[in-house]
Amino acid sequence: MSPVIIAIDGPAASGKSSTARAVAAGLGFRHLDSGALYRGVTLAAVRAGLPRPFYAADVVAEAERWGVDLRPRNGDFEVVAMEPVPDASLRAAVVTEHVSEIAALAEVRGWVNEHLRGAALVGEAVVVDGRDIGSVVFPEAQLKVYLTASPAARAGRRLRQRGEAVDPEQLRVETEALAARDRADSSRAVAPLVQAPDAVALDTSDLSFEEQVERIRWLARDRGLAIHD
Ligand code: CDP
Repeated sequence: MSPVIIAIDGPAASGKSSTARAVAAGLGFRHLDSGALYRGVTLAAVRAGLPRPFYAADVVAEAERWGVDLRPRNGDFEVVAMEPVPDASLRAAVVTEHVSEIAALAEVRGWVNEHLRGAALVGEAVVVDGRDIGSVVFPEAQLKVYLTASPAARAGRRLRQRGEAVDPEQLRVETEALAARDRADSSRAVAPLVQAPDAVALDTSDLSFEEQVERIRWLARDRGLAIHD
């Protein structure tokens, strides 16, 4: 049977991952974080010391050699490899710095997409978050949501998430860093960040976390997608 899929796409720090996790938990779905797999592949390339510019074939070979994969875990999937892959390593600054360059490589995207589709079959009912989930990876998704928020709202959230001060200068630096990653993700030739024509757009700048989760759960229920609620 084909899996039931809810796709949540949007720019960096729009709250996709935490929202997707909460929506999945509420509906009895499994959460699948595609960005975490891009980060796993990037970590494989970085720890192998691959030189820049990165070549897709070398990056994929390193991901294979290190055994990067997705494994079902309670309520979600974890990124695994031959050694433990702590979340802190996936979110390390060096990974964040290189992930958009690696995610722009067509062969890497093909490799990641195959793993995501395989995981969705195992998961049966999944909430997948990323940049191209509704547009490229799962165009057949039963519900597609495009989350946005103003750059300043997103930068403020990211700083608070990291426990850092939200003074005007920090906010300016973080807003610029996010805008640079948005530009890289939106302007790349392969699978750029776009809103799928059939996606529901949700601007979360003025919504609380609970409100945005509830809106998506409502959309899912409205389409008869909830397993339990
Ligand atoms: O959480 P954050 O928005 O910072 O990023 P992420 O979801 O962990 O994804 C990290 C990077 O992977 C993004 O900046 C994109 O360059 C890339 N990515 C992508 O190209 N396509 C996806 N479906 C997911 C992530």
